[in-house]
Amino acid sequence: MPKGSVGTSPIRREGTEKVCGLARYIDDYAIDGCLHGVTLRSSVAKGRIKSIEFDKSVPWEESVIARASDIPGGNYVTLLENDQPLLADGVVRHKYEPILLIAHPSREKAYQALSHVKVEYEAETPNFDIDGGGRVFKDILIEKGDPAAGFKKAWKILEGEYWVPHQEQTYIENNGMVARVESDGTLVAHGSMQCPYYIQKALKAIFALPDERVRVIQATTGGGFGGKEEYPSMLAGHAGLLATKAKRPVKMIYDRSEDMAATTKRHPCRVRFKAGIAKDGRLVAQDIDVVMDGGAYMTLSPVVLSRGALHATGPYECPNVRVRARAVETNTPPNGAFRGFGAPQTLFAAEVHMDRLAALAGLDPVEMRRRNMFREGSITHTGQVMGISLGTAEVLEKTVRMSGWAKKRKAYAAWNKAKKPTWRGLGVALVHHGGGFTGAGEVYLASEAGVAIDREGRVRVLAANTEIGQGTNTIFAQIAADTLGLPLERVDVAVPDTHVVPNSGPTVASRTCMVVGGLVHRAAGRLKDAVLAAGGSFTDAKKLKAAAAALCEGKPERVFIAKYEQPDWVKWDDKAYKGDAYGCFSYGCAIADLEIDRSTYEVRLREVFTAQDIGKAVHPLFAEGQIIGGVVQGLGYALLENVVMKDGGMANASLTNYIIPTSADTPPFKVAIVEKPYKGGPFGAKGVGELPMDSPGPAVCNAVAQAIGKWPAKLPVLPEHVLELVS
Ligand code: MOS
Repeated sequence: MPKGSVGTSPIRREGTEKVCGLARYIDDYAIDGCLHGVTLRSSVAKGRIKSIEFDKSVPWEESVIARASDIPGGNYVTLLENDQPLLADGVVRHKYEPILLIAHPSREKAYQALSHVKVEYEAETPNFDIDGGGRVFKDILIEKGDPAAGFKKAWKILEGEYWVPHQEQTYIENNGMVARVESDGTLVAHGSMQCPYYIQKALKAIFALPDERVRVIQATTGGGFGGKEEYPSMLAGHAGLLATKAKRPVKMIYDRSEDMAATTKRHPCRVRFKAGIAKDGRLVAQDIDVVMDGGAYMTLSPVVLSRGALHATGPYECPNVRVRARAVETNTPPNGAFRGFGAPQTLFAAEVHMDRLAALAGLDPVEMRRRNMFREGSITHTGQVMGISLGTAEVLEKTVRMSGWAKKRKAYAAWNKAKKPTWRGLGVALVHHGGGFTGAGEVYLASEAGVAIDREGRVRVLAANTEIGQGTNTIFAQIAADTLGLPLERVDVAVPDTHVVPNSGPTVASRTCMVVGGLVHRAAGRLKDAVLAAGGSFTDAKKLKAAAAALCEGKPERVFIAKYEQPDWVKWDDKAYKGDAYGCFSYGCAIADLEIDRSTYEVRLREVFTAQDIGKAVHPLFAEGQIIGGVVQGLGYALLENVVMKDGGMANASLTNYIIPTSADTPPFKVAIVEKPYKGGPFGAKGVGELPMDSPGPAVCNAVAQAIGKWPAKLPVLPEHVLELVS
């Protein structure tokens, strides 16, 4: 038996080619006869298209133009509801909505041509207000106990209103796609993506094609963070439409400003939080009202909202809870998936409110959390009984110890009394994050992953989950290799290609390792059993080859598939919104140590401490990378990232003035990985992708509160906001 690789940190599979600049992103492909596609977008937030004029000075015969009327199937991008057109047909509902497409052999000339198309609108009054009466995409009510009775019994009641803004995913590689039509009529989309099968589904509807005539292949992808969950379906539709009309391959690559202005962002969210406590600080009632700004079309807003509502209480038990949540329409580009998927928004409110409640109760913020956090047997607002792989106490106590909490809080209180040039603060946040799709979501997805063996005995993992920088390729190989008892280098991982891999579902929801890794583990188990039954062995190359050849029965390979099965401890009632929202949760705690300049009001992070319970770190180095990366992205949300909306569009759609943290803005880190094994995950693994995003926002605000005595109730905490609070 080779020594197992799970729990060690082997070299990243595609690492060398990425570091050496050899990895090919979609824009790196030189394709014969390829045209470049560009998009004409609405300049108004709402209105009717009166006319479209093409400037006669342009030689239009050199270009291919595609409009809504060229769409062979349905003019919509398939998602929860098919309300979003692929191309606006007469009406526009948000700024930058795509209206028509132009392709030209020269990218430069394609853009020039674009500037010579004039659209006249009959503008209508847009709505940018979440209370402005826009369509309600989804309305959720979760109730537990009797909140009214709870508030009546409460020793003290605290109300607060919190606001978090848009956030841009800011992956390194912008959205990009190439489409071509093969001689047999198969439409192929190749590009940057998280979810090949979402794109396939969308293209089937747009082009009225059967499964086998739509093929989607992932190219090396430079980050996703949720931003490549749904938008690539739109882009593939556009490239496909131009390619179909031009009968030539078409490449569409967004530049940074188009990507920032036109594609999805994190949902802005307002939370009104009312909580009652008993004298000992225990929660007796919570009433939480959540409103998310969905933008002009539904996209994924109902499910983002759902995750937000399911995490809105924080990782605390309260006997009487009411959560009301709505996602509403406004005339801005649709908001969508972003790492955390609604949870960072509501957990921000929950954790800042918890800190304020601690002050009200006269308790230390850590002690307040100890008294309320989920323990063995706690019941959530949906009725889920906690106990499976529960890491709340451990992540809290570990982070507290690492940070030297009590001593430092005291020292900073003294520091702030002395007339120093800065204020200092230490703030804590404790969060949970459900792994995988909510409730019965994984049942509906019915994911399948495979492990194949060829006649030579080489093993290959088949899954639709994409490597987007998080380590999918490496961890899938680790899981399969360890299940089989093979050395890691003997296992390959297939490129996600809908003609090659089964539909193992989207690369989202912190599910790749926990859910799909679990399928890989089971499929590998089936392969192992078959090889052993055929007289083979994974430690004897000759015997393995003989067994493999027998199993292949003359074909190039034999595939073993595992299909998702709902764990028997998960019972969810989607109608009543009751039961086990997730098979398990991951847990995280962050403590931010910061200081604020008393003359510039700038917040400077001194250090960040975090412990995160992820079940099992299949690859500890990647896990730590996910944690640091996610926390840094959360710190950007907390302190820097400021989407400025003007007339329904992003006014600062460039990296010059949309500021994300660089390594120079990144404070020293102390990270601890906690491993409370989850029986439903491969080798005990739970989700890690999104969890780290949840805690930095509230930890920063709670630290600011120690520094200046007031809690910021909105993000980002810019110097002007601190000034407002202190004056
Ligand atoms: Mo993710 S935010 O579930 O793509």
